[in-house]
Amino acid sequence: MMTVHRVGVVGCGLMGSGIAEVMARAGLDVAVVELDEASLAAGRRRITSSLDRAVRSGKLTAAERDDALGRVGFDTGFDSLADRQLVVEAVVEAEPDKVHVFSMLDKCVHDDAAILCSNTSSIPIMKLAVATTRPESVVGLHFFNPAPLMKLVELVSSLLTSDATRTDAEAFARDTLGKHVIHSPDRAGFVVNALLVPYLLSAIRMLESGFATAEDIDIGMVDGCGHPMGPLALLDLIGLDTADSVANCLYEEFKEPTYAPPPLLSRMVEGGLLGRKSGRGFYDYRT
Ligand code: 3HC
Repeated sequence: MMTVHRVGVVGCGLMGSGIAEVMARAGLDVAVVELDEASLAAGRRRITSSLDRAVRSGKLTAAERDDALGRVGFDTGFDSLADRQLVVEAVVEAEPDKVHVFSMLDKCVHDDAAILCSNTSSIPIMKLAVATTRPESVVGLHFFNPAPLMKLVELVSSLLTSDATRTDAEAFARDTLGKHVIHSPDRAGFVVNALLVPYLLSAIRMLESGFATAEDIDIGMVDGCGHPMGPLALLDLIGLDTADSVANCLYEEFKEPTYAPPPLLSRMVEGGLLGRKSGRGFYDYRT
């Protein structure tokens, strides 16, 4: 069994920053890669403010925060990933971008035994694995937002993922990161999003049709069903662009109307109303 010390994260947005934080807090040496200096600086700010939040709520000491941050390196090139034993790709939820990252990882990560993971929410792992010359080393490791808080990781093996990769990736997520692991076959949406997305899209359709207000839909599910947040607030947390991409991916795979993004979702994405990250989604976060 491989013991993983040196890890990489490609993409430091909402998910990548959370994953890098989880890894740094687990004591690992983390190399973060982003497209440019501005994205890198935004990623670093996201990790820092999340660690600060953990200090404020007493989950970390200031010294532990500084140590965790000190374990993360930030770079705009893939060279810093050369000696990594495990890398998680967490770039935008678009197949061409992810395929590009996997072809780069194949060239840049030297160790043939390294595990190449994708945090994709929906794209079948096989589509990413075949962009490399080592599809047996490619596996899905799907974290949930906010990654430092959500316990779950979905482990997705493609038909070509080796037993060693699956076993090592599972041990890493469970024993090193302390996550609960569930297994999914390699179908768009995996286990959780195949269930969650139809529910979220139904809430949008309910709002769009004028059947209920956003507030009533969300209060209904929080106070009536004990969910931590309602579906529209959750969509704002996930990001409407990501939700739209995930829905499109599911629809492309299954051609079932339940997965088709409602027009309101598409219009909001086109208009840049992406939820918390853009300041406006179903709710307004600008004040
Ligand atoms: N990062 C780190 N910590 C956070 C956080 C964040 N983004 N948001 C909240 N927290 C922490 C707070 O510091 C606080 O910690 P404390 O109790 O130690 O002080 C704790 O979480 C509670 O925060 P709040 O009181 O501000 O807010 P809530 O009680 O509403 O909790 C929540 C926030 C944890 C996000 C909760 O609402 C929740 O669990 N929501 C559901 C999230 C969910 O379903 N995620 C999955 C999305 S689907 C997905 O990711 C898959 C993808 O493929 C689409």
